[in-house]
Amino acid sequence: MTVERAAELLSTARRAVALTGAGVSAESGIPTFRGEGGLWAKYDPVKVSSIDTFLADPASYWRVSRDRGRVALAAKPNPGHLALAELEAAGRLVALITQNTDGLHQDSGSKRVIELHGSGRKVVCLDCGRVEPRSEVQERLDVEMPPRCRQCGGTRLKPTVVLFGEPMPAAAVQEAFELARNADVILVVGSSLVVYPAAEVPLVALRAGARMIVVNAEPTPFDRFAHVVIHGRSGEVLPHLAALTGG
Ligand code: APR
Ligand code: ZN
Repeated sequence: MTVERAAELLSTARRAVALTGAGVSAESGIPTFRGEGGLWAKYDPVKVSSIDTFLADPASYWRVSRDRGRVALAAKPNPGHLALAELEAAGRLVALITQNTDGLHQDSGSKRVIELHGSGRKVVCLDCGRVEPRSEVQERLDVEMPPRCRQCGGTRLKPTVVLFGEPMPAAAVQEAFELARNADVILVVGSSLVVYPAAEVPLVALRAGARMIVVNAEPTPFDRFAHVVIHGRSGEVLPHLAALTGG
């Protein structure tokens, strides 16, 4: 019933937008931050993933990011990612806003992807600005901690992701809220919806009159605002949803 209802909303939508979180990549083997087995159950996010601690001691960030990076770089899109790309290709989604930095939406064929929290696929040197692929830095983490810049020797190499305490990429934020203001359906997948301003995106869409569909493994604070709530794994629900919408 609920997936059918969600399919109906998506099939008649003209400006549907998706917002995804870590849950959409869970079935690709990348641990989420919250919920069962989440990263923040093991580490204090501010200690290991804030810009202040990074600048004070880049190794404290890289020691955690090394393991997560290894998993993320090896991860492949799962059926949930592929279904979202299919929905876009079928014209059911105009864009996909993501909080994820793993690049799996792009790998799965989604074209218009707005990365609110940046990309974990590149690393920038804060001293000389040189950018290099994360995969090259990953290779030397076992022998170089923290990693050093190949150009200036600096040790402030940072993935191009938004750490706590850092500003979000202005252009991505602007585009995301523009899309939300014009959306007639907002499909939220795999997010605990507790981190702002990303969690504001569905609220802006709702205020603009959009219908909201939530697909999440467990309840979210926004379930009560949603027109359709589906508690399940995105890797199962989204292919079903795409099949029903002819996506
Ligand atoms: N299918 C659907 N939902 C899932 C699945 C799954 N297979 N597995 C887990 N989930 C749900 C969890 O129940 C949880 O509610 O996905 C949600 C993931 O929530 P978070 O881990 O908090 O991820 P997210 O909402 O993206 O976090 C936002 O917080 O730490 C920062 O920068 C980080 O971008 C991240 C932001
Ligand atoms: Zn440098």
